[in-house]
Amino acid sequence: MVQQFLDYVEKNQDSFVDRLRKAVAIPSVSGDPSHRQDVFRMAEFLQGELKALGADNVETRDPGEQDFHGTKLPLPPIVLATVGTDPKKKTVLVYGHYDVQPALKEDGWTTDPFTLVEDDQQRLIGRGSSDDKGPVLGWINVVESHVKLGLELPVNLKFCLEGMEESGSEGLEKIIYSEASGYFKDVDAVCISDNYWLGTTKPCLTYGLRGVSYFHLTVRGPARDLHSGVFGGTVHEPMTDLFAVMSKLVTPTGKILVPGIYDQVRAMTDEEQKTYENLAFEMKELHDAVGNQINIHDDVRSVLQHRWRYPSLSLHGIEGAFYNPGDKTVVPACVIGKFSIRTVPDMGMDKVTELVEKYVTDEFKKLGSKNTMKIECSHAGNHWLSSPDHWNYVAASKAVEKVFGVKPDLTREGGSIPVTLSFQDALQKNVLLLPMGRGDDGAHSINEKLDRSNYISGIKLLGAYLYEVAQLE
Ligand code: BES
Ligand code: MN
Ligand code: MN
Repeated sequence: MVQQFLDYVEKNQDSFVDRLRKAVAIPSVSGDPSHRQDVFRMAEFLQGELKALGADNVETRDPGEQDFHGTKLPLPPIVLATVGTDPKKKTVLVYGHYDVQPALKEDGWTTDPFTLVEDDQQRLIGRGSSDDKGPVLGWINVVESHVKLGLELPVNLKFCLEGMEESGSEGLEKIIYSEASGYFKDVDAVCISDNYWLGTTKPCLTYGLRGVSYFHLTVRGPARDLHSGVFGGTVHEPMTDLFAVMSKLVTPTGKILVPGIYDQVRAMTDEEQKTYENLAFEMKELHDAVGNQINIHDDVRSVLQHRWRYPSLSLHGIEGAFYNPGDKTVVPACVIGKFSIRTVPDMGMDKVTELVEKYVTDEFKKLGSKNTMKIECSHAGNHWLSSPDHWNYVAASKAVEKVFGVKPDLTREGGSIPVTLSFQDALQKNVLLLPMGRGDDGAHSINEKLDRSNYISGIKLLGAYLYEVAQLE
């Protein structure tokens, strides 16, 4: 049966690419209110596809409203669906997100970001191709293949698809907890396809993610923007204060300067050291993915350790700053600096916020400025670590061998999917990350792509994994 499925996927590639084309054409950017209707449209599209394939109980849950800078916005629905309800079979819950990062042609895309284009290297280019529409459709393609072949799935499949992942998954955690004994009752294991291979050549299974705590640092001074010729040198300037504080958060070599942060980081063991050996990753892949040789660490092991198991602090932007081309001699009245900390075991989210608040407040005081400062954590998601010895990982490993003929690497990741931990805690089931795309797909960047071969093999992999789950007792 599994062979029939694999052959079907191989032969019907173009129809799967067409489905991805339709999905990419819906600009479901969750972070931009002007696209909120498109995020809803994307939810409709997925429900339509699932219903057309005969899925049962295609339902939605309403996460409520979002407070976006004082304006209330409706949150897109959580889409739930079930394929198969045979009590003799295992039940696998799959999660994915149907929202995407913003993308504008002007950012430097070679082609229109919301028109899927296949280039001469068979790369499917478009926003969301890899993060995370390709993988979400991957599961739907598995279902379609079985329907078309007249085969039942080897397990019962439940879907949980959200439209706010790129903006912090607002409202989903509560729904996961309340459905643990409802829609998600009977789930035996969870599988999430929303990350990437380590490099470009070898598949991996992922058992850890960093968390993220995001901060807004606001400095306010004059009642309005000022002329720097008239007022420069006579008033405390908010941007100057902000720069002074932001420059004390992290060193140019990545050391976080907030006291106490490293005290919470779990100590390295000899056993853990072994997990960084023999992985399919080279410095060249880092250089290629970055597009330059600007690495802080010179060996693969430290690169991965700093990506997976040490915290990092990144500065993201300044709201209110003058950033248009050209010169403008203005003193901005209010600026908001944004930064985030990627967190790792055993850092606590509340402790991180407390340490940041105290340090930033102290550093601002030292400036002796008469401006006002406010520091707040805008959202936080915890880190996650799973046990790769579980049958869920054994099944996935066998599936990788079946489809790719190699044993997968076991990896962790530096990015965050906060609800991963919610699924693990709320359902008390093992969670597996089973990636489809490659490390150089350029998620969140320009020219995001998913190689056709990764898409097609990925569909095979997701299906083969379900067969392996069914075969384990
Ligand atoms: N797919 C990513 C998560 C990810 C990134 C996994 C890199 C593995 C490697 C996800 O869509 C994402 O971008 N998450 C955000 C979460 C944040 C908005 C809370 C992230 O990591 O920045
Ligand atoms: Mn994603
Ligand atoms: Mn993402």
